[in-house]
Amino acid sequence: MKMIFLMLATLTMTSANAALPALKVVPRIVGGVEVDAKTDASFIVSIGGGCAGSIIDAKWILTAAHCKPLFTRAVTGGSTSLYASDRVKLKVLKSYVHPEYSSSKSSNDFALLELATPIDFENTKLSKIEMADSNLETSGGLEEGTVATVLGWGVTRENGSQPSVMRMVDVPLVSRERANAREAYNGAINESMIAAGYDQGGKDSCQGDSGGPLIVKDEVSKKQTLIGVVSFGEGCARAKKYGIYSNVAYGQEWIQKVINK
Ligand code: ARG
Repeated sequence: MKMIFLMLATLTMTSANAALPALKVVPRIVGGVEVDAKTDASFIVSIGGGCAGSIIDAKWILTAAHCKPLFTRAVTGGSTSLYASDRVKLKVLKSYVHPEYSSSKSSNDFALLELATPIDFENTKLSKIEMADSNLETSGGLEEGTVATVLGWGVTRENGSQPSVMRMVDVPLVSRERANAREAYNGAINESMIAAGYDQGGKDSCQGDSGGPLIVKDEVSKKQTLIGVVSFGEGCARAKKYGIYSNVAYGQEWIQKVINK
């Protein structure tokens, strides 16, 4: 494999890039696996065109504000394969973007989609996921090193193509302090965000995973909790450039206000 890569690299080397100091190694995959049957992904919907969302209530989908250009009249769910014939289509009535969303800072990257009709959880393969409550962070529930899982149909490497079957990867949570280190995000990570990933990179979410879930699973009860929404990252799976997620515990106040209106 390495040989083929080297050969290809040599073949495609033109006079323009021949002057590059070293062959740049592009992260080959973002380290995930296809979602297996043991994993409950029935709360994840595709917003189409490169974003996903999570069902948090019979009438509500939580996603990222930066996905707004992709919001259409429907989202689909009920299968990990985007091309399954039995995908359920859910009509969207209205979208709500967090009033303090900042596209330049990517802070408060939250949006809610209100469905036209409540989901019938009994008669569909869909479910909802419990959200992290607003105390989760202060109560120590989001401690550094806690292993979380991110799922989605995003590209499997930087500038790669999107898979049709959902993938997932485990990433440990990273403290805000470490995420704000100079060689990481240099102070750009505020309390509306949480970071997850490895110092050495290799495993991450990537383009197309946006709006989708970062979850933790209780080992005993197997209960899944939504703690983050895929928001941004510098490239994908690069060393120290952890994946950044909207902090669901922090967004809770706004989310509750909108869905209980
Ligand atoms: N903004 C991206 C999207 O629109 C998500 C990128 C996540 N990047 C990362 N390195 N974790 O799909």
